[in-house]
Amino acid sequence: MNYENILVADQNGIATVTINRPDKLNALNKNTISELHEAFKTLQHNPEIRVIVVTGSGEKAFVAGADISEFANFSIEEGAQLAAQGQESLFDYVENLKTPVIAAVNGFALGGGLELAMACHFRVASENAKMGLPETSLGVIPGYGGTQRLPQLIGKGRAMEMIMTAGMINAEQALQFSLVNYVVPQPELLSFCYGIAEKIMKNSPIAIGKAIKAVNANFKEGEDGFKTEIKAFGYCFGTEDFKEGTTAFLEKRKPVFPGK
Ligand code: COA
Repeated sequence: MNYENILVADQNGIATVTINRPDKLNALNKNTISELHEAFKTLQHNPEIRVIVVTGSGEKAFVAGADISEFANFSIEEGAQLAAQGQESLFDYVENLKTPVIAAVNGFALGGGLELAMACHFRVASENAKMGLPETSLGVIPGYGGTQRLPQLIGKGRAMEMIMTAGMINAEQALQFSLVNYVVPQPELLSFCYGIAEKIMKNSPIAIGKAIKAVNANFKEGEDGFKTEIKAFGYCFGTEDFKEGTTAFLEKRKPVFPGK
């Protein structure tokens, strides 16, 4: 499928989704959000795709935020709708995908850009990356899950400070805060992420999808993560992946997971 604002490529079971509006520092306009939704939906339903890596086009930005030019004149209702639609179609959607999603943060990840990176299952940054939630400097608050996911990842006090100051942190600080798992030189960013993807791909896709669900359950209002884990654990016993994984272990060979 051809998109206007994103590029989707796949090789050896790893899909790379690149947000491609470099002249606008890959800012997320409505069309880009809707294309990302379509791309993630298609990739999730493709059994050949085992890991998705999301990055930004060019060397300067991952995503410099939601497209400010689109919402500058919004009313109260339109503002609320923008946040609700974005959360449903992209940010919550990515977080709840069964397919693992790695954010390769290759530059500025600000506002909606950091929120997108935080909705991914984990993050790797390049040395030049800068991250922040600058919304309060625009007279608004993060609306794509930033007030919830940032404290989950780095703790309440640090999140409060980042949101209130609207400041940026560099890649080293992000690593220290556990906002990203690794920092690597920019030219090595994608190959580093593909290396992690290859390790993930050795394991059962069904189990990984269930593990994502169970981990996410801890952060969902009204959901008991331990119960979700028990149910998902039991589910795995009925899968072909489980049979293959345990049989391969007993036969002292590497498993070939059918993903069923
Ligand atoms: N929405 C819309 N356009 C954006 C944008 C955004 N979030 N971020 C950058 N752009 C556009 C700029 O308007 C500019 O477009 P132009 O060349 O047509 O004028 C282009 O991208 C390049 O940005 P520029 O500001 O010239 O680059 P810079 O290197 O001087 O500064 C940033 C980089 C990231 C510090 C700066 O672009 C910025 O502060 N962006 C907004 C970040 C933000 O507040 N995001 C949260 C939104 S809720």
